[in-house]
Amino acid sequence: MPLLIRVPDVEELPALSELCMRSKAVWGYDAAFMEACRGELSLHPRDLASSRIAIAARGGNVLGVAQVRMAGDEADLVKLFVEPAAMRSGVGQALFAWAVDAARASGAARMTIEADPDAAPFYRRLGARDAGLVPSGSIAGRMLPKLVLAL
Ligand SMILES: CC(C)(COP(=O)(O)OP(=O)(O)OC[C@H]1O[C@@H](n2cnc3c(N)ncnc32)[C@H](O)[C@@H]1OP(=O)(O)O)[C@@H](O)C(=O)NCCC(=O)NCCS
Repeated sequence: MPLLIRVPDVEELPALSELCMRSKAVWGYDAAFMEACRGELSLHPRDLASSRIAIAARGGNVLGVAQVRMAGDEADLVKLFVEPAAMRSGVGQALFAWAVDAARASGAARMTIEADPDAAPFYRRLGARDAGLVPSGSIAGRMLPKLVLAL
């Protein structure tokens, strides 16, 4: 069954937000940490207008979601989350390729990623380079690796 990349319908956004939570939880965070992240991991109808969002689906099953926000010549990969059961089967790479295409099409010169520490090796594998640390938007005092992909 081919992997289909498409724009989600607005009705799918709540389920996609839950997918992001299940996906992030694979790194072993506790319940309090996950609740603190819920805001950042949620997708809202306004996001469909203010950013680019795509999902990956196979045979009707949604396996992952990505969100890119454009700002001038920079694109920010805001979300990239794969359903736990579908990890390590190429879904993340396919959504990353979509994000790169979307960023290039918008005229961006680079794409930045504020990565979960456990996901950083995935981005390095796909060509992104380390560019220091940035504060987490969800957890006070937590620093996250920032990576940049030249487009
Ligand atoms: C990070 C994530 C998106 C990767 O998606 P995935 O579908 O499992 O990755 P793919 O199967 O497309 O892997 C592509 C390549 O990266 C490698 N890779 C995937 N995850 C990796 C990891 N955590 N560490 C090192 N390499 C990794 C794969 O082995 C593969 O390499 P290969 O082509 O040499 O075999 C996924 O693990 C995920 O959703 N994690 C939880 C949520 C999260 O942290 N998201 C990122 C937020 S910044």
